[in-house]
Amino acid sequence: MKTFCSMLETIGKTPLVRLSRLVDKSQGAIFAKLEFASPGLSKKDRVALQMIEDAEKNGKLQKDQPVVELTSGNMGTGLAIVCQLKGYRFIAVMSKGNSIERAKMMKAFGAEVRLVDQLPDSIPGQVSGGDLELVEIEAQKLTKELGAFRANQFFNPSTKDVGTYRIAPEILEQLGNEKLDAFVDFMGTGGSCIGVATALKKSFPRIKCFGVEPERASFYFDRTAANQTGKHKIQGGGYNMMLEFVETATGLLDGFITITDKEAIFGAKEMALGECIFAGFSSGANYAAAKKLLQSDFKGKNILILTPDSGTKYLSTDLWD
Ligand SMILES: Cc1ncc(COP(=O)(O)O)c(C=O)c1O
Repeated sequence: MKTFCSMLETIGKTPLVRLSRLVDKSQGAIFAKLEFASPGLSKKDRVALQMIEDAEKNGKLQKDQPVVELTSGNMGTGLAIVCQLKGYRFIAVMSKGNSIERAKMMKAFGAEVRLVDQLPDSIPGQVSGGDLELVEIEAQKLTKELGAFRANQFFNPSTKDVGTYRIAPEILEQLGNEKLDAFVDFMGTGGSCIGVATALKKSFPRIKCFGVEPERASFYFDRTAANQTGKHKIQGGGYNMMLEFVETATGLLDGFITITDKEAIFGAKEMALGECIFAGFSSGANYAAAKKLLQSDFKGKNILILTPDSGTKYLSTDLWD
């Protein structure tokens, strides 16, 4: 055990837990990488640190230059922490449709938060691709006005590099002699899904990797399905749009799995009750997707999931009703 000199040093090195109470050995195994075990309670702390340090190294971010980013809350919280500790001004641009805990948390870490109205037919708690476009316009405007560094999570390669070079190596070390047969991950930018899958495919050449999408925003699974309203409760992703990291990783993913809001909520509740893992909607979606695999072609196999953020971020929503 050692003493840390900054909270920046506590980012990452998250636990890997085998869900042995929820999944009986005869069914197979689900390993959960608890990415919410980080100062900002989400996997995006690592991404923020990587983005800022990469930008410092390659000269894209100068001392005294503000940082701007579009966020559903977690990326913004990660950047708020990293910018506060490194002395950069940070402005987060977020849709009013995301849970209010997120804005409060970013502000607590010193960020300025610009909230953007949703489209007239959008529902609070359900941020659509159209809502995100409005946030993007505002983020671009601010970046120009302030001469800021735009973190640009949907396109910045640091987003996926963190999966390949930080998260996956930890998982491999933690697994010891265990092998993985499948990996599933709910996609926002698709960065962690693609990043982690890239590394796992090198270590386990036969592993199958799947992107997880909301049933009503299944852009990659089947964008022509009749129920494509784009509306769902799984915050942090499912924007029903083309993702740069998925598009440029041709052939890396083996397929896509769709999850309903109910399945994601039930999954999060099962993890809380069964394993005392208090995680959010997208963690519930990942767990539900892994269970679907264990109940079909992957019976008896080892599956990896990430738990992107903490359940405390959703106390104002119906997740825990
Ligand atoms: C709660 C949550 N789950 C999942 C994701 C998706 O992660 P990624 O952008 O790596 O696809 C995010 C992204 O912000 C998120 O906040």
